[in-house]
Parts: sequence; C-alpha cells; structure tokens
Amino acid sequence: MTHETPNEGVMSRKEIAKKVGHKCLVSRRNFLISSGVTTTIMITMNPGTAMAKEVPAQVTEYPRKLIAKMSDLKLDEPLDFTYPDEGEHADSMIVRMGVKAGGGLGPDQDIVAFNYACTHQGGSLMDSYKADTKSLGACPLHLSTYDLTRHGILISGQAYQSLPQVLLEVDGDDIYATGIFGLIFGRKENLHG
Ligand code: FES
Repeated sequence: MTHETPNEGVMSRKEIAKKVGHKCLVSRRNFLISSGVTTTIMITMNPGTAMAKEVPAQVTEYPRKLIAKMSDLKLDEPLDFTYPDEGEHADSMIVRMGVKAGGGLGPDQDIVAFNYACTHQGGSLMDSYKADTKSLGACPLHLSTYDLTRHGILISGQAYQSLPQVLLEVDGDDIYATGIFGLIFGRKENLHG
C-alpha cells in the first residue's frame, strides 16, 4: 500500500512510518489525520532521484495507550481494545499471527493491531479473524476481507480502502497503541470520535 501526495510521487506506509515515527501525516486522501496537537516537519519525496524534493508535512500526536501485555498474546487469539478513544468505531484488535507482517511488532514481527470497522460501510469485523489466512472478514454486510500481513489491504469485497492499522510500541512486556494509519470509518478525523 502506498500513499500519493500532491505532485510529489509516492511513499510507502513503511517509509512514512520511518520518517515520522508514531505520528500521522495529513494527505489529500484522508489516510492521515488532521486534529489534536499538529506540527509541521519537512520530508523528502522521491529520495535519491532527480525529482527529490523537501516538502512540508503536518504530523499529529496520538495518545499513547497501554493495550496488552506481550505475555498475554497467544498465537492467533486476538485481544480486543478501543483506540484512540471510547467513541464510535474505536473497537480494535491485536493479534500475534506467527508470520511476519507489515508493521509487525516483536522478535518475529508478527504482532499487529487493526481497527474493526470495515472501511466500506462500517460493518463490524469483530470475531472475524481467520488464522489460516491471517485476515479479518468476511464483513457480515458485503463480505470485504482484509489481509493483516500486508497493512490491512483489501483481499476481496466491496471496500476500496485498507483497514486502518494501529501503530504499536513495546516497553518491556507492555504494548502501547501510539497512532493509526488510515481513517477510521465514519470519522472525519480519527481523534474526534
Ligand atoms: S460494510 Fe463491510 S463490505 Fe460493506
């Protein structure tokens, strides 16, 4: 999954995450968020090419919330939590999948977290984790299914946006949610639920 920005080409989610840490960029496609404590940083688009260019990007601070313990995570058994608040569509899950995943945490990079609200029309994906395919879905409304090994990209169904991925940070045995990539369904801004 990549994100286009006006006039400056494409950066992958991994590149963006490396650049801004646990903050969120603002883009024209609403993948990224504009609320809360917002500051501006400079990022390089098309690095290493003749089109390399420094451009300003807004970043937003998310709450840092303790959501689980490493020692509590059992293989392919999701744990539920809410993030970034207790508002609508804040239900989310964390799971250790046993296979390396984009944005994965832990020694095997296999721990990921995602919002449960389907990006099509907000159907709840709670309790729909499939261990054999490491996916969430099918959505009970129109059958969308999302690949949790590849940043929640759509596998099949009616949706056209990836499932918002919760950014994670580990401190000893504690796992914290620190941000979200992607816009939660039904919200104009993730932090204003
Ligand atoms: S709401 Fe999930 S596929 Fe339509």
